[in-house]
Amino acid sequence: MSELTEREEFAQAVIDGLSAPKKTLPCRYFYDARGSELFEAITELPEYYPTRTEMALLQARASEIAARAPRGAVLVEFGSGSSRKTEILLAAMQGLAAYVPIDVSGAALDEAATRLRQRFPALRILPVTGDFGAPLHLPSDIAQAPRIGFFPGSTIGNFEPDAARDLLAGMRKQLAGGSLIIGVDLRKDLSVLLPAYNDAAGVTADFNLNLLVRINRELGGTFDLRAFRHEAVWNEADSRIEMHLVSRKSQDVAAAGRTFHFTEGEHIHTENSCKYDLGAFAQLAGQAGWRVARVWTDPQGWFSLQELDAA
Ligand code: AVJ
Repeated sequence: MSELTEREEFAQAVIDGLSAPKKTLPCRYFYDARGSELFEAITELPEYYPTRTEMALLQARASEIAARAPRGAVLVEFGSGSSRKTEILLAAMQGLAAYVPIDVSGAALDEAATRLRQRFPALRILPVTGDFGAPLHLPSDIAQAPRIGFFPGSTIGNFEPDAARDLLAGMRKQLAGGSLIIGVDLRKDLSVLLPAYNDAAGVTADFNLNLLVRINRELGGTFDLRAFRHEAVWNEADSRIEMHLVSRKSQDVAAAGRTFHFTEGEHIHTENSCKYDLGAFAQLAGQAGWRVARVWTDPQGWFSLQELDAA
């Protein structure tokens, strides 16, 4: 079996997604250099509440969270990106044996490690490049140390229930009996939710459309950006915000060596962002072998940080 390159994998995902009767593209391909930059810009938008709500929650609760951590633990972060949230936690945690940030972007890992080594010179930092589902190999002197997982940002919301369960179960294995600190976005009024994914400045629209820019550049695509528009909708049955790209006209587009037809008004479903109530998340976590040990929310009840313990 031959290992597919990143690009071959992307090409296959695009071919599969655009050949389906209901067209889709996986949201993980949003995050090329430009996409990561646009996401950073999203986190600063007045309408996008999750990042600032979670950061404030972390600031308020970091010492409490840190106090619950065993001494000499290894902090493992899944999809660490810039590690800006972790920095708040690290400042409150004493006596960590190591910090292990896992991310697909080597560049983001390098940048974060450099910054964190300056701020926490005594902390051992062991960056791991790759998908956060892969088995975790730690150096032998810390392989037996207690582990704490950190998975902020409500990234779990991008996964449909089955995949979310598998991911949480995989993390439980990787953490070998340790707990997981996870950020989970909550259900709330649509007057708050919808603008968060359809901002007035159009940054989220650019973020969504950038997926087509990436296909054009990396897979020889011929997408005309003006011929698609961004749409964010609430799906009540599945309790999630969905992002779509909608074809403004009937058109044929080439990509990854194929041609795809779009009817006028046809959708490409590009992202799910599930919003949980506390009961529904506890049930999901339970199915993955976790028990909710603590829940911290902001005063408005918009976002939660949760400590999951191995059940
Ligand atoms: C990074 C997955 C948490 O779903 O809110 C932001 C991504 N998409 N605006 C989210 C996103 C559109 C974000 N997550």
